Amino acid sequence: MSNDAVNEGRRRFLTAATSVVGAAGAVGVAVPFVGSWNPSAKAKAAGAPVRANISKLEPGQMIVVEWRGKPVYILRRTEENLSALAGMADRLRDPESVEPQQPAYAQNEGRSIKPEILVLLGLCTHLGCAPMYRPDVGAADLGGDEWEGGFFCPCHGSKFDLAGRVYKGVPAPVNLEVPPYSYETDTVVLVGVDQEA
Ligand code: FES
Repeated sequence: MSNDAVNEGRRRFLTAATSVVGAAGAVGVAVPFVGSWNPSAKAKAAGAPVRANISKLEPGQMIVVEWRGKPVYILRRTEENLSALAGMADRLRDPESVEPQQPAYAQNEGRSIKPEILVLLGLCTHLGCAPMYRPDVGAADLGGDEWEGGFFCPCHGSKFDLAGRVYKGVPAPVNLEVPPYSYETDTVVLVGVDQEA
């Protein structure tokens, strides 16, 4: 193993160790996840709620924020996306979200508090890869007419709809997880804090 690889391994370990400790104070993060790997910021963010400003999020757009070291996808769905959800049931393993993969307030068709805003952990429920956002309806590589847009995991081919519900016949056993979240204001999502009943 080269020195670089050893250092890399050590850095990963330290990051993991510090994230368990957690940190006080909320750290707002609303940046693309890719390329923002920074252990100290990551350590600070661990455990604390994360704010995401969605005021500029256009229909069909998704942002990724980091919460407890995990990617959280926040997507503003279009009207078409929302109407497609109703016709998905026969393709899905758990269309009613019976498995406890979401807080009670997100156990509905859109698996969300507000219908248009989806908040999901971006970790495949098979082995934890990051599913890709594939909103392209009818994508030939994802089943053509059967594909209404959703998430595709490139590791072993699991597919999820635009509510994070898993398709039948793929390796992932359950729907993508909806983390606890709430709205601080109309345009600020707070990931890590449950909506009050
Ligand atoms: S990790 Fe996603 S399909 Fe295996």
